[in-house]
Amino acid sequence: MSAVAILGASGTIGSAVARKLVNSGRRVLLVGRDPEKLDRLGAELGTPTAVVDFRSSQPLEAALVEHGESLGGFSGLVNCIGSLLLKPAHATSDEEFRQTIETNLFTSFALVKAGGRLLRDSGGAIVLFASAAAEVGIQNHEAIAAAKAGIVGLARSAAATYAPNNVRVNVVSPGLVRTELTRRIWESSAAAGASRELHALGRLGEPEQIASLTQWLLDPANDWMTGQAIGLDGGLSRVLPKRRPAGG
Ligand SMILES: NC(=O)c1ccc[n+]([C@@H]2O[C@H](COP(=O)([O-])OP(=O)(O)OC[C@H]3O[C@@H](n4cnc5c(N)ncnc54)[C@H](OP(=O)(O)O)[C@@H]3O)[C@@H](O)[C@H]2O)c1
Repeated sequence: MSAVAILGASGTIGSAVARKLVNSGRRVLLVGRDPEKLDRLGAELGTPTAVVDFRSSQPLEAALVEHGESLGGFSGLVNCIGSLLLKPAHATSDEEFRQTIETNLFTSFALVKAGGRLLRDSGGAIVLFASAAAEVGIQNHEAIAAAKAGIVGLARSAAATYAPNNVRVNVVSPGLVRTELTRRIWESSAAAGASRELHALGRLGEPEQIASLTQWLLDPANDWMTGQAIGLDGGLSRVLPKRRPAGG
């Protein structure tokens, strides 16, 4: 089976996806911005790495073309790059908003653009990451909600464009998962408690759970799903939490 390229592979969810795929025997290319972090993970997993400047789409496509030759081509592309800005609109600077769009939405666009060229003849799966915050209004999420909602729209249109080429495009929309990105929330007992209460199941997500769904979406055996944004979020985007008795 051909390889999977993982953008943001040095992040918590990106590295969980990489470990899961490598352990299941798939070839993987680790893509990111930090050579040291990528080298460390590449050495652990015995996989190649590519350092890319994500400010334009061309370097990513060039890296995927170059590594695709030695990896026997790609049948899966995943974007695990992301950021989290928790501010109301009136306190968000123009630069913070642009940066949030660039990190989340532009990198997803760059991957879809490269995938539209690389997978057009062979077919394959693209997985992007949005957020429950794109599905339900959560205070102080204006910039990241806008970027992540853009990713859902991007994925649905690309799913329509490339369906005749057997390219599937789906989105994972997590609730609060215990990763580096959210460390300051889940390490504070007050913030973690408040977050747990927003999730009807009363607990936060784990990177392994997100990696499992990503692996499923990439698996050619599951090739009848496209254009979906799947909430893996303890209920956050769809289920009202039951009020718990004090101390319960
Ligand atoms: N954790 C959650 O609760 C949660 C909730 C909803 C959605 N998500 C989404 O899930 C995905 C994975 O996030 P995570 O929780 O695993 O976060 P993470 O551990 O912080 O990983 C984020 C990754 O994004 C990369 N990155 C950040 N800014 C970048 C930039 N400007 N250019 C290139 N790469 C950049 C980081 O690179 P370095 O390793 O070099 O720093 C890292 O690899 C993201 O799309 C995130 O938005 C997460």
